[in-house]
Order: sequence, then C-alpha cells, then structure tokens
Amino acid sequence: MISMKKLSILPQLALFAALAIAGSVVQADEVKGTAAAGNGKVWLCVGCHSIPEYRADYPLVYKVPMLGGQNAAYIAVALAEYKKGERKHPTMRAIAASLSDQDMADIGEYYAAQTASSPINPLK
Ligand code: HEC
Repeated sequence: MISMKKLSILPQLALFAALAIAGSVVQADEVKGTAAAGNGKVWLCVGCHSIPEYRADYPLVYKVPMLGGQNAAYIAVALAEYKKGERKHPTMRAIAASLSDQDMADIGEYYAAQTASSPINPLK
C-alpha cells in the first residue's frame, strides 16, 4: 500500500519528466560543433579510446579505434549510427544513446582537432 506522503511528490516528478523530455527534443537541424565544447564531453570516452599517453604506445595494435585526428563529420555520423542502432556494438550504442546531436558534433570537432603534437588533455 502506497502512503499519501509518497503520492504527494508524484506531480513534481511528472513535471520534471515533462521538462526533461521537452529539453531533449529541442535541437537545431544544422548542429555546429566546437572542439572547445567537445573538450568537456570526452571524459566518457577516456577509458577505452584514450589509453593515457596513448601516442607513446604507437605502433601497438589498438583494441578500440583511434579517434584523434579522425574527420569530425565521420565521428558525429558514427555516433548517430550507434544511437539509431545502425551500428551494433552494444557498449558504443549505450554510450551514444546518451549523447545529443550537439554533443556528437562537439565531440567530432574535438577529436578532429587532435594531432600527434597536441598536448595531452587531462580529461581525455
Ligand atoms: C567501454 C569502451 C568504450 C567507451 C567508453 C567508448 N567507446 Fe567508442 N568504441 C569502443 C569500441 C570497442 C569500438 C569499436 C566498435 C565497433 O566495432 O563497432 C568503438 C567505436 C567508436 C567509434 C567508431 C570509430 C570508427 O572508426 O568506426 C566512435 C566514433 C566512437 N567509438 C566514439 C566514442 C566516443 C565519442 C565515446 C565517448 C562519448 C566513446 N566512443 C566511448 C569502445 C568504447
């Protein structure tokens, strides 16, 4: 039996959910990313795509694709394909599902801007 005390927070929860949904559907058609914004969003990717000091490990074989220096649009499209399920890798699908179009564009620009001489990003 649910007590009245617990029920009384339901309207707030419903409002919160409605706001969260409204926020996620408001997206521009043409999303322009920036490397600076992407810089703060790649922390999720660190564990797999950026072994610390990974450039020093060259030419070892990587288990995950190297993203630094990759084309920005290619990265954003690949992430969108994971999100839509057109690419199947389960972990990448779960991660991409949490990204907005803006996040994907920013992350694409961020990785595209990486070169062998880029300073090591502590967030990466
Ligand atoms: C748990 C490990 C893991 C994490 C965390 C992770 N990835 Fe991946 N990622 C992989 C693996 C493994 C693949 C190869 C999957 C495949 O073959 O489809 C991959 C593939 C990709 C690809 C496709 C590359 C290509 O050349 O086709 C992109 C783009 C990508 N990841 C971006 C990201 C971004 C951006 C993040 C952070 C938001 C992230 N990944 C986090 C493991 C991970």
